[in-house]
Amino acid sequence: MSTPIPQPPGVPILGNIFNIDQNNTWWSLKGLAEKYGEIFQIKVLGKPIVFVASAALAEEICDQSRFRKYVGGPIVEIRYAVHDSLFTAYEHETNWGIAHRIIAPQLSTQAVAGHFNEVRDLTSELIAKWTQLGPKNKIQPIDDLNSLNLEATTLTFFGKKLNCLTGPVHPMIQAMEDSTSEAMKRPTRVPKFLNSLVYGTKFKSATAAMRAWATDLVKYRNENPTDRRDLLWAMMNVKDPESGKALTDEQVIDEIVTMPIGSSTAPCAIDAAILFLIQNPEVVVKARAELDAVIGSGPFSHEHLAQLPYIAGIARETLRLSFAAPGFNIEPIPRPGDTSPVLLAGGKYQVAHDQAMIIVLAGVNRDPAVFEEPLKFKPERMVGEAFDRLPAGVKKWFGNGKRECVGKHWAWEFLVTVLAKLIHEVDFEAVDPAYQLKQDGWFNVRPVGFYVKVKPRGA
Ligand code: HEM
Repeated sequence: MSTPIPQPPGVPILGNIFNIDQNNTWWSLKGLAEKYGEIFQIKVLGKPIVFVASAALAEEICDQSRFRKYVGGPIVEIRYAVHDSLFTAYEHETNWGIAHRIIAPQLSTQAVAGHFNEVRDLTSELIAKWTQLGPKNKIQPIDDLNSLNLEATTLTFFGKKLNCLTGPVHPMIQAMEDSTSEAMKRPTRVPKFLNSLVYGTKFKSATAAMRAWATDLVKYRNENPTDRRDLLWAMMNVKDPESGKALTDEQVIDEIVTMPIGSSTAPCAIDAAILFLIQNPEVVVKARAELDAVIGSGPFSHEHLAQLPYIAGIARETLRLSFAAPGFNIEPIPRPGDTSPVLLAGGKYQVAHDQAMIIVLAGVNRDPAVFEEPLKFKPERMVGEAFDRLPAGVKKWFGNGKRECVGKHWAWEFLVTVLAKLIHEVDFEAVDPAYQLKQDGWFNVRPVGFYVKVKPRGA
């Protein structure tokens, strides 16, 4: 006998639509995970969606012999902007493999190491801005961190300096916000016709702005020939070793647009890290001891990264507690002719043979069955053997298997580099010392209403 999957009480026809705040879906899901535990379901317009929120069940449904990425809901909606790109391609679409084999080598640890100096120097530009704010010293770090991230992806992947760390918000940042928010809201909007009638124009203009940014990068490269062998060079020139195919001009634009949408998770994580560090001054003391011993007052070089295990622990503990990428979708691999239910936890639960499931990392990453004091920020548990001993289910911040984050090495180096520099060089103070983490967002989540003052370390 299997156990029924818990479900909050709903309303006729619309089901559980009111259990989810359409303007903050992931915060609602975090709340439901805290209430219901390892697994729960909701019904929206008659369709069940199952949510998995424990480490053990997450690990089970990350078994690629039984499950795969589910391309549905908001991911299908964002295909309007990027078609069958890496993030949005269905399992059967051959373009995923072609693009993956062309793009992944440019995002290997070795390739990413070649961009260390660029990311370090851009971070120095941000720190210079922050430490010269004068009377305007009250900032929402996410604003500038988003700019830093767009600047870093545009420079390292596509070879163009945008100079967007100062001045108004870059149109690409606003367009990503508009398109991802719209993609999240469309699947459950009632009545459906409002999607095209009222909100279609916003979706269209955000898509046009993102594709214009990407088109400009290709134009810039064509007009400024260079020896850089970067991601853009690969997208425009390399042929897939397996099929011999290159990306079409339209696919190049699709993949260029996909990259900053993926990468926009990294600044959300750093913003949360700033909060965790303010709340845990003893962590800053330990981190600075490591940074002073390894980097001291000399130049920060790529070789230092491997000598900063405690900073790496801070980055991992941030990924755990911020769940900046808040979840990902899974479905059972179709078994032709077999529509029997799929058993989970050795038969404790049953789901339909084609049931879409969403892993809610706010539950998984803070699973009390794995972590003592799961809500505490303790980088020590993310260092060395302690980290190695943790079960695979709680290390899914970059997704899973074949469809794991293709940018994970870049993201990791960005996180460690930026965090190391910020901790080493500046002091943060929360404008509201009683601020408690509240997040919102679309494809990623970031602290809301979190303001800080910044000054040079020790000043
Ligand atoms: C802290 C930073 C990041 C986190 C936590 C993160 C997390 C994730 C997760 C959870 C997935 C799986 C999504 C799914 O299964 O639907 C994913 C996929 C992806 N990410 Fe990231 N990501 C980060 C940074 C980046 C960066 C820097 C890039 C750009 C290079 C990027 C590009 C992508 C792409 C293209 C995919 C789709 C991969 C595929 O399906 O083949 N991400 N990411």
